[in-house]
Amino acid sequence: MTLVLRVDPENPERDKIEIAAKLIKKGELVAFPTETVYGLGADALNAEAVKKIFRVKGRPLDNPLIVHIAHAGQVEELARDVPELARKLIKAFFPGPLTLVLKKSPVVPKETTAGLDTIAIRMPANRVALELIKASTPIAAPSANLSGKPSPTRAEHVLEDFQSKIACIIDAGECRIGLESTVVLPEEDRIKILRPGGITKEQLEKFGEVEIASGGDRPLSPGMKYRHYSPEAELWIARDVKQAIQEAKNLGRRIGVIAMEKPEENVEFYPAGRTLEEYASRLFHALRELDSRGVDIIIAEAVEERGIGLAIMNRLKKAATKVVQNS
Ligand code: TXA
Ligand code: MG
Repeated sequence: MTLVLRVDPENPERDKIEIAAKLIKKGELVAFPTETVYGLGADALNAEAVKKIFRVKGRPLDNPLIVHIAHAGQVEELARDVPELARKLIKAFFPGPLTLVLKKSPVVPKETTAGLDTIAIRMPANRVALELIKASTPIAAPSANLSGKPSPTRAEHVLEDFQSKIACIIDAGECRIGLESTVVLPEEDRIKILRPGGITKEQLEKFGEVEIASGGDRPLSPGMKYRHYSPEAELWIARDVKQAIQEAKNLGRRIGVIAMEKPEENVEFYPAGRTLEEYASRLFHALRELDSRGVDIIIAEAVEERGIGLAIMNRLKKAATKVVQNS
């Protein structure tokens, strides 16, 4: 059985946090909320505990984990030779949805970083996550979904994938941002975005020249080479939702649509909201929800690649089986 601890997101109950922290310190897996998505946590300094994450998720062994901290001082314990640019980014964005890739300290087991000599570190902007880390230890956590599935933004999503397979989940309701953190590599005065996310390119540009890693020959962020975030249904990205619906109808398939405006056609619809921020916070739930309604094809409306729109399009492209071009 998985222990479900319901906590108040603003004022997490001490006794419940203490129960979860004890499990982490014992080497068990605890799923917990962050402002981005739910994480599947283990003691980052315990190799055996970290191995459990890979096993339970079915995660490729060459895909390193992010280590979550509760105060900036912990960066110095886990990383070495922290560059000046990284310090500026920490000052500006910690706690928040930014992950920094730094040189790893020898105290971190190789299992946590999948054998790399770098370590990804972030401080989540979520009371529950911070209290859990403070009461235990730095926590290694990928998104708490089975490898390849949409990331979890609610405790129900985590239980769908891991019921009975993990010791505990802390349920504090929905995640505010709904897409993962931005993973960056700070290099002298350049910031390389390895994965777009909650902190935007525009926000980073105040701190140096920003480059988006192409994911070319040697993927800098190993996770980005796998198909990801995929619902059971086919996923089509469409600039022209109406046209995509016609194409799918011609195939005689059951259709789900995620879009800003409700289509006139009779389809399963999940509203994407009115802003890019709303779309981001709803996307992963919408994919799971439309799957549960049994559609064959999900058509997701394309958005402009500005602000959080860059991360929305990144996740859609990773999950898509087809891009519907304008006629
Ligand atoms: O918002 C988030 O980042 C969530 C919450 C739970 O914090 N976590 C998350 O973890 O999305 P995960 O494991 O699903 O994605 C981590 C990404 C992967 O693309 C991985 O390859 C990359 O970060 N990464 C981790 N360590 C790295 C390293 N040392 N160098 C380059 N990329 C790294
Ligand atoms: Mg993930």
